[in-house]
Amino acid sequence: MNNFIFHNPTKLIMGHGMIAKLSTEIPVDKKIMITFGGGSVKKNGVYDQVKEALKAHNTIEFWGIEPNPSIETLRKAIALGKEEKVDFLLAVGGGSVIDGTKLISAGLLYEGDAWDLVLKGNETHTIPLATVLTLPATGSEMNSGAVISRHEAKEKYPFYSNFPVFSILDPEVTFSLPPHQIACGIADTFVHVLEQYLTKANESRVMDRWAEGLLQTLVEIAPKIRENQHDYNLMADFMMTATMALNGFIAMGVSQDWATHMIGHELTALHGLTHGHTLAIVLQGTMSVLRKEKEAKILQMGERVFGITSGTNNKRIDETIRKTEEFFRSLGLTTRLSEEGIGMETIDEIERRFNERGVHFGEDGLVDGKVAKEILLQVL
Ligand code: NZQ
Ligand code: ZN
Repeated sequence: MNNFIFHNPTKLIMGHGMIAKLSTEIPVDKKIMITFGGGSVKKNGVYDQVKEALKAHNTIEFWGIEPNPSIETLRKAIALGKEEKVDFLLAVGGGSVIDGTKLISAGLLYEGDAWDLVLKGNETHTIPLATVLTLPATGSEMNSGAVISRHEAKEKYPFYSNFPVFSILDPEVTFSLPPHQIACGIADTFVHVLEQYLTKANESRVMDRWAEGLLQTLVEIAPKIRENQHDYNLMADFMMTATMALNGFIAMGVSQDWATHMIGHELTALHGLTHGHTLAIVLQGTMSVLRKEKEAKILQMGERVFGITSGTNNKRIDETIRKTEEFFRSLGLTTRLSEEGIGMETIDEIERRFNERGVHFGEDGLVDGKVAKEILLQVL
């Protein structure tokens, strides 16, 4: 086990009716800017619950943070927040609204253009931020990360700031999710676990078992959710799994990969493909190309998550990769670039971008432009 410091300060407020807690969780002397996406919260009653809970507070609203939040939109929110002297932010939405609001929380205290902060990669001088989560997937409600896009240049980069002060998770708000967003949320959660698990063997038994528990839960609940996404306990487990997959709890003392994510971000930046969907395509490629380096962990995953125990190591690895792809397809997602009309031009462009940036992703830094190309060729 590697050395680590663990500190997650986000207060989780979970369950039916808990949005009402906003009334007491945010001090009444705060000037709050509530941030939203494109309007789903008006259709499913979340907006009304938030407004009711905050009726005694001083609030303004910012609408229109889009999926894969863009700097172009967030600059407008920062300008409004500065003008209105906002000193508390409440993000109501999925990962995109929350991520975008993390950049706003830093941008409000920054004199220059907020894109500088994204290029710098982190900024912890922020105003407080809380969230009402409406889509289980990213873990953004309980981590300090965000991913911000710049549409004009088709770029998408990670950015780190502070954790939300608190996050409210009511599983009922997920009942209105489009099935494709649920599928992408499950895929995203699954790959978050693998980015922290499918690395080096024998670093921590307890992290391995926690990670496998989350993977097993996803494999168990995914088909049930497809049958009935209005089952409260099922959606509560989905929400908890997504939060626990990327809030630091399974990362203590173990190596992390994140190459699949970094390649996936390029697919979103270049083609607008939904985040979780990009991962469902890229992951098999990462597992195939790095099968030797990840051998022990792929075998362990095959055995403990999919029950694959017989055959040579090579056969078992093949079978585990096949089962993983089958899992994504069972969610209703495609798993090949060509199925999305993406071809060699994009693969070459991603290789070019990675080479230009001089990046080396993955637990051993092996994924550069050339290896990213090999990975994508596997899933063409
Ligand atoms: O905008 P509205 O109208 O609210 O609709 C949204 C959006 O169109 C809709 N939606 C959300 N909750 C709903 C709902 N529709 C009906 N009922 C509800 N309850 O779903 C659509 C997608 O929302 P979005 O927030 O984009 O999805 P997600 O939560 O998957 O977030 C994706 C973003 O998060 C980043 C991704 O890269 C992407 O930009 N990530 C953030 C991470 C982090 N902060 O740690 C890690 C992840 O790996 C990921 O990269
Ligand atoms: Zn992700």
